[in-house]
Amino acid sequence: MKRLLLPALLLFALGPTGARGQQTAPLYLQQDAPIEERVEDALQRLTLEEKVALCHAQSKFSSPGVARLGIPELKMSDGPHGVRAEIEWNSWRHAGWTNDSITAFPALTALAATWNPRMAALYGRAIGEEARYRGKDVLLGPGVNIYRTPLNGRNFEYMGEDPCLAGAMAVPYIRALQKNGVAACVKHFALNNQEQWRTSVDVVVSERALRELYLPAFHRAVVDGGVWSIMGSYNRYLGQHCCHNSALLNDILRGEWGFDGCVISDWGGTHDTREAALNGLDIEMGTHTDGLTTESRSGYDAYYLAQPYLELLRSGELPLETVDEKARRILRLIFRTAMNPRRPWGSLCSEEHYAAAKAIGDESIVLLRNNGILPLETDRYERILVVGDNATRRLTDGGGSSELKTKRTISPLEALKTLYGDKIRYAQGYTCGNPLYGKVEEVPAATMDSLRSEAVALARTADVVIYVGGLNKNAYQDCESTDRRSYDLPFGQNELIEALAEANPNLVVVNITGNAYAMPWVDRVPAILHASYLGSMGGLSIADVLSGRVNPSGKLPYSIPVRLSDCAAHASGDASNYPGIKPEGISMKKAPDAPADSRAYPQVTYAEDILVGYRWHDTRRIPALFPFGHGLSYTTFSYGRPEVSAAKMGPGERLEIRVPVTNEGSRDGMEVVQLYVGDDKCSVLRPLKELKHFRKLFIEAGGSAEAEFTLTEDDLKFFDEQSHGWVAEEGTFTLYIGSSSTDIRQKVKFRYTD
Ligand code: BGC
Repeated sequence: MKRLLLPALLLFALGPTGARGQQTAPLYLQQDAPIEERVEDALQRLTLEEKVALCHAQSKFSSPGVARLGIPELKMSDGPHGVRAEIEWNSWRHAGWTNDSITAFPALTALAATWNPRMAALYGRAIGEEARYRGKDVLLGPGVNIYRTPLNGRNFEYMGEDPCLAGAMAVPYIRALQKNGVAACVKHFALNNQEQWRTSVDVVVSERALRELYLPAFHRAVVDGGVWSIMGSYNRYLGQHCCHNSALLNDILRGEWGFDGCVISDWGGTHDTREAALNGLDIEMGTHTDGLTTESRSGYDAYYLAQPYLELLRSGELPLETVDEKARRILRLIFRTAMNPRRPWGSLCSEEHYAAAKAIGDESIVLLRNNGILPLETDRYERILVVGDNATRRLTDGGGSSELKTKRTISPLEALKTLYGDKIRYAQGYTCGNPLYGKVEEVPAATMDSLRSEAVALARTADVVIYVGGLNKNAYQDCESTDRRSYDLPFGQNELIEALAEANPNLVVVNITGNAYAMPWVDRVPAILHASYLGSMGGLSIADVLSGRVNPSGKLPYSIPVRLSDCAAHASGDASNYPGIKPEGISMKKAPDAPADSRAYPQVTYAEDILVGYRWHDTRRIPALFPFGHGLSYTTFSYGRPEVSAAKMGPGERLEIRVPVTNEGSRDGMEVVQLYVGDDKCSVLRPLKELKHFRKLFIEAGGSAEAEFTLTEDDLKFFDEQSHGWVAEEGTFTLYIGSSSTDIRQKVKFRYTD
């Protein structure tokens, strides 16, 4: 730091003389001057070489500033569930620091399951404080890609299948995070909905589906969240890689949405100097290096936006304005973060952060089914058997770039032992073997048999069995860079759950996953909890929901189809819809750098178009096993007749809606009131209904509360491909107000007249 500031101080000392002979700092160093003036002042002091240097990495997770002018580098970190452990300067190995352990927050899919924007703000603030304390300027998250298929290995890093929910949760996360002077970097822009072939696949999707489903959460992050950076995705759209995609970055992000922040490439997502120069990429990160940082043929100087870019600028083949614009954006990001004098110090692993992780975890757990066995009051049973690998597994490890090094993690088994004491016994029940990243070994059948037999024998003598399984963070599970191979739970868990249900009717299943999965045993299990990866305090949240200390209030952020073929992306069974078709005879190793017109890359076609998730289940009348928005409580809520301010609505008008809700039970609880809108008749196919607003209400036992909503004309519109604009057609619309996408408690019709 000293090294960087020294030249700036010198400049300050030699700078122009102000009134009464005082020295005035150069404008770009004047902390109270408007940022845009500081940016322009700094920009005109930079040499061409310095501008180009800003545009690419200098290490795995940093990009340079301008030492000569005292402009510091940008330090980045994954994201999005906690601040990742330090990585070596120039390799993917952990640096082995002893002061980089952090609080692990619940996965973003858990955050989405809270349906509570206040939880998103709490999350953003806490993770921002940790990032700040760790000296980071950019946190690589949150992710808002839409959940298209349950096979996507990275769904746990995103916020579900609905753009309204994902956008509403992303905005407070971003705002609260950035209050720390740390930039959020929303990812992965755009259409990164699968991990298979992620670096090469070209996504073929209608403009309407793009606008209605895949872009709105990004749009909100930019327009309402005011996000300072965005990460281009690995895949292609219109045949062009998204890190330098003219349609996405120039036309939509910059042109239409007026984004003034930086586009940062995904690590290794840049493939071409000219495209990167012209199509809106600002900072190139993660392109392959050979371990040397300068003057080597594959060091940082050889990045697409380094020496090759400089040469094309010098020769006049690329316009100088391209680099001015990038440097301007990067300086703006530096002034907002690394040179922001007002940013707080932050804090790490504070009790407040653990409390935030616990509160988010508590609200995220979804009670899918309960015949009354839950909650398990602590004095009700004497012999409690816990079964399952996820009762003890550290689920903060693995999963790819979202892996976390925690200071404190409480597993479900530990937390259950604290609550129920020596009534608890444990059997592992199954094992996932010892898979290495990207490589999975078969577990010998004899090992599986003996683990299962042990658990089943103990289950016969227990009063109640708590099963804690699901997916984990190994390859082909919930893990970056691979997709799941099957919709079933892995490691023989279906057989194990069936056998446990046979051995003991008091079986409670808790599955920890970031994805939907098949439940062939669903009718034989009296209670099912769906939890996601809950971070440091996850075990406590699970134990508290099981015991009733916490009344569950999570709602599914994605549908759980009965079978994979009930999911829109898999309905055709055609590989062209998932995972895509790979051209004959093409070695995938060569595909990413192949010329754009050679089609030397796979293509996936989103044939389901706008009917993703519940939009598909509703419209095609294919019931999900557990629908989007579903989640039970230990109490029950009744919905009164909504009050609507008018029976019709015209252009520019709004409808005010109030929904009274009563807690009919004897426990305090929280209910998420969901407001969906359906266009009764339209000239184009529309989903039966779409989520437009939601409110999470806390209601005391026996008490009542009101959910208030304001409906605007925008809530009625679809994207019209003919006019390339948003259109609301005259006619009757229905408001569907409910406790899930299928548990609709009230319907109200109104007319829209234009
Ligand atoms: C991931 C990004 C991540 C980056 C840096 C990439 O492989 O796709 O989400 O931020 O690595 O770790």
